[in-house]
Formats: sequence, structure tokens, C-alpha cells
Amino acid sequence: MSDKPAPTAHTKYQESVAKYWDYENNKINVKLGEIDGLHHHHYGIGETDVAALERPDEMREEKIKAELHRLEQAQADLLADHLGPVVADDRLFDAGCGHGGGSLVAFQRFGCHVDGVTLSTVQKDCATQYAEQQGAALKVTFHVADMLNTGLKSQAYAASWNNESDMYVNLDDLFAEHARLLQRGGRYVAITGLINDVYGMASRSVSRINWHYGCDVHKRADYFKALARNRLAVATVIDLTQAALPYWRLRQQSHLATGIEDDFLSAYQDSSFQYMLIAADRI
Ligand SMILES: C[S@@+](CC[C@H](N)C(=O)[O-])C[C@H]1O[C@@H](n2cnc3c(N)ncnc32)[C@H](O)[C@@H]1O
Repeated sequence: MSDKPAPTAHTKYQESVAKYWDYENNKINVKLGEIDGLHHHHYGIGETDVAALERPDEMREEKIKAELHRLEQAQADLLADHLGPVVADDRLFDAGCGHGGGSLVAFQRFGCHVDGVTLSTVQKDCATQYAEQQGAALKVTFHVADMLNTGLKSQAYAASWNNESDMYVNLDDLFAEHARLLQRGGRYVAITGLINDVYGMASRSVSRINWHYGCDVHKRADYFKALARNRLAVATVIDLTQAALPYWRLRQQSHLATGIEDDFLSAYQDSSFQYMLIAADRI
């Protein structure tokens, strides 16, 4: 559903983001997605089954893979829990949809329409294929588009979200687009990593996370100020930092580790970084 053709990358930076995700093929995302067809590019929450680590070699890796996927799925389920009373006729917007795992979680739960946007053509094609495999293609559509300027229809959406995708964009531009797309009373939800203002500026670990992903994580205070400036009134805040630690500890010991695990653990443990769910209502 769109007002006009969706514009794609506008800046050199966005072109570089698109390229990164076009070529990103970390085994950790591919292998976990193969388990049930839900491909997530975000992290997990909740307690792990530590017995997974004590199994004989081959079984150990399979069990760790299943555990990581279970925790990522728990994160996506928590986000969906906060989308409000969505019905099958409703339309939702997934900003920075990756391989579409979150859009499919919402479809499976509510039977609703979903529009997902990503800068990456490869991701859009894969996500479309996964939606077909899940029997969701009639209601779930993926677009190559800039989430700051989607071309999608104004006030057509009952809910929208960013799952670990706001750190690639300017917050005022992002929330202005969500406010344009959402119906009055519609729900916005984010799960994101934020700099803890109490710590000060970005710690070394946060700077390495930015470097690793080519992103720029926001400060917590800036996040809330930008929401308020854009008619998004905060309804719920959950600090998920402690709930994120078991996932990173398990991933650190897995053959699927990507090298960024130590930085996430130290950033969470030295309180320079917080993993948060934030839900807001469009007023
Ligand atoms: C860490 S991934 C998160 C993917 C997905 N939300 C998930 O939870 O699996 C970040 C995503 O943000 C997308 N992204 C970054 N900047 C964007 C922009 N300006 N417009 C649309 N998508 C963007 C990337 O293409 C990528 O799909």
C-alpha cells in the first residue's frame, strides 16, 4: 500500500548500509533462521539452558543454535506483545525489517497485513521468499525503501516498530515518518541498544559496536526527547539489559560467535549501554 513509488537510499551512508546488508551472511543468522523459517537479525533475551554447554561436541552446537534461536524468538514475541490489540484487517509497519522475521511473527500472531522496508535488495528478496514459504505473501509485503521516507500511505497503520534498526538513522526524521504513517492512537514499539547518559559518552565497547556494524547508537535521553517532539507519547519502558546477558554469554561460547560478543558483554556490564523496549502511542 503506497502513496507513491518508494524511494530507496538517499545518501552515500545509506548506500553503504544497503551494501553491508546485501553481503552480510553471518552463519549465525542463516543457521538460526533455518530452524523454523523465521530469520531474525536481532539479539535474544531470557535465561539459557546451561546444560547445552555440557553436551558432547556435535549435540552441543545444535543445542546452542536452538537456544540462541529460542531467545531471539522470545525477543520478537515480547515486541509483538506490545503492539496493542491488532486485528486481521489492520496494517503494521516494520521499519528496517531485515529478513522479515519480525513481520512474520506479527502475521502469525494477528493474521494482519505488514509492510516491511529495508535498504537491502537481497534482504527484501529473501524476506519475500520466506513469506511465501510461510503462506504469508498475500498479506506481508517487503519493499526496498528508506524508512525515513517510505512512500507508504499516511495514517494507514495501527502499529509500527523498529527492532534494532534505529541506530542507522536520525531519530527526528525516523519518528516523523512513524507519526505520519500511524493512525491516531496507534502504537510504536522499539527494541534497541542505547547509550546510558549516566555513563557519559560512548564507551570503547560501544564505539567498537558502532564500528563493527557501521551504525551510530543513540543516547537514551535523546531517544525520549525525539519521541516527544514527534507526537509519540511513551507508554511503556522495559530495561532488558540483564535479560540480554545470558544470550551473549551463550553466543560467546558458540562456534557461531562473530567476534563482537565481548564488547556487548562489557558494554552491558560497565553500564555504558542499555538494551531497552520502548512503546509509545501516536497522539
Ligand atoms: C540489525 S538489522 C535488524 C533487522 C530486523 N529489524 C530484525 O529484527 O531482524 C538492521 C536493518 O535496518 C535496515 N536499515 C538501516 N537503515 C535503513 C533505512 N534508512 N531504511 C530502511 N532500512 C534500513 C537494514 O537494511 C537492516 O535490514
